[in-house]
Amino acid sequence: VLVKSKDMIETAFANGYAVGAFNAENMEMVEAIVEAAEEMKAPVIVQTTSGTLNTTPPEMFYHMVKAAAEKVSVPVVMHLDHGDSYVRCARSLRAGYTSIMIDASKKEFTENVTVTAEVVKMAHPMNIPVEAELGIVGGKEDGNEAEKEVYTDPDEAANFIAQTKVDFLAIGIGNSHGFYKGEPKIRLDILEAVKAKTGNTPLVLHGTSGIPDSDVAKAVALGIAKVNYATELRDVFTKAVQAYMKEDSSVVDPKKYNTAAKNAVKNLVKQKIKVLGSDNKA
Ligand code: 13P
Ligand code: ZN
Ligand code: NA
Repeated sequence: VLVKSKDMIETAFANGYAVGAFNAENMEMVEAIVEAAEEMKAPVIVQTTSGTLNTTPPEMFYHMVKAAAEKVSVPVVMHLDHGDSYVRCARSLRAGYTSIMIDASKKEFTENVTVTAEVVKMAHPMNIPVEAELGIVGGKEDGNEAEKEVYTDPDEAANFIAQTKVDFLAIGIGNSHGFYKGEPKIRLDILEAVKAKTGNTPLVLHGTSGIPDSDVAKAVALGIAKVNYATELRDVFTKAVQAYMKEDSSVVDPKKYNTAAKNAVKNLVKQKIKVLGSDNKA
């Protein structure tokens, strides 16, 4: 069933596990994520970035996710990931998204507060929760390369939540979008310090592809309640297509290699749900 994200993430936060938020690029990925969640009895979030919505509009994704969610008993959220403007957020809300993120983290603090607070004022009367970001997640999210990682300042985080009334906060603790160039160095000490100041606001981990499962589990134990995975899903999807074509170079039917790719994504999502501890929570 399609639900809003507020209760789902707050319940995870209160009970020491995290909800997996998986980025979809097409119908097969939507089906893979929702079917994996159903088999694991896990609440789940399907999300699309602004870049993805430049290719496939939110109305298309909303209807695919809604149809997939109606076939299962576990709760499914349709989330806008890294919303890049007020208009983007408005259009996703109108399309039916049940959760949104506004990402103004590359702007300076006061500008980030202003933009985020405006989106909160639009979404909250519709009972739709808002995620925002403070500090910068490094790496490349759909081509927007961050110059450097900026660790979230604990006092600023508390201040930001108080001023914006945001529901969930994405933080920078050495995490980076895409695969990591070297060893990822996740600063759990910064996470702890932020958590100490942000109290009841669930925290969100971005850039999770490439972080060892054991570090992800530690971050979840320290207050991360939503965990985003994109690159690893895209990677297994693409590799499955390549493997299929290598095996059968005369294939012309997309449903053949897309089905192989869907199954690869589904297996990966099931593994990640275990890492986050959200299995058997729905
Ligand atoms: P990865 O691509 O590193 O998994 O990051 C995902 C993400 O943060 C989506 O918002
Ligand atoms: Zn992200
Ligand atoms: Na990453």
